Amino acid sequence: MKILVLNGPNLNLLGQREPETYGRATLPEIETLARDTAKRLGADLDFRQTNHEGELVGWIQGARGTADAIVINAAAFTHTSIALRDAIAAIGVPTIEIHLSNVHARESFRHHSTISAVCRGVIAGFGAHSYVLGIQAAVNIIVTRC
Ligand code: DQA
Repeated sequence: MKILVLNGPNLNLLGQREPETYGRATLPEIETLARDTAKRLGADLDFRQTNHEGELVGWIQGARGTADAIVINAAAFTHTSIALRDAIAAIGVPTIEIHLSNVHARESFRHHSTISAVCRGVIAGFGAHSYVLGIQAAVNIIVTRC
């Protein structure tokens, strides 16, 4: 059972970046939390971050045949990227959209996601715990096959 966790732009700055919005956990700390969660649930985790849209597209394409599910925090690309949407739609790997913050309680430009419609579901607003919930949802999809 293999889960690919993808992180988009500026998430490498977590811990210092707007902590009142995103919390004080760093990305390496979130990775540890995600790995502990996956281990407890019997899943293998591949955890990556990039600031580049094309790299995310490449990683999503590479998940076909190599990952059973994707958990993605596409960060700002969530609100702009048709390329990410098309990549997720193309590969047929169940994908869960996650966010640390509750994007619907923030600026209106964050209310629209280009990827939600091609994801199995969306988790937002639980801080680092959104990653735990996303991995739990991914395992549930893989185990129940639905
Ligand atoms: C985010 C929300 C996005 O609107 C924002 O651009 C981010 C982080 C979140 O995890 O809350 O960079 O995806």
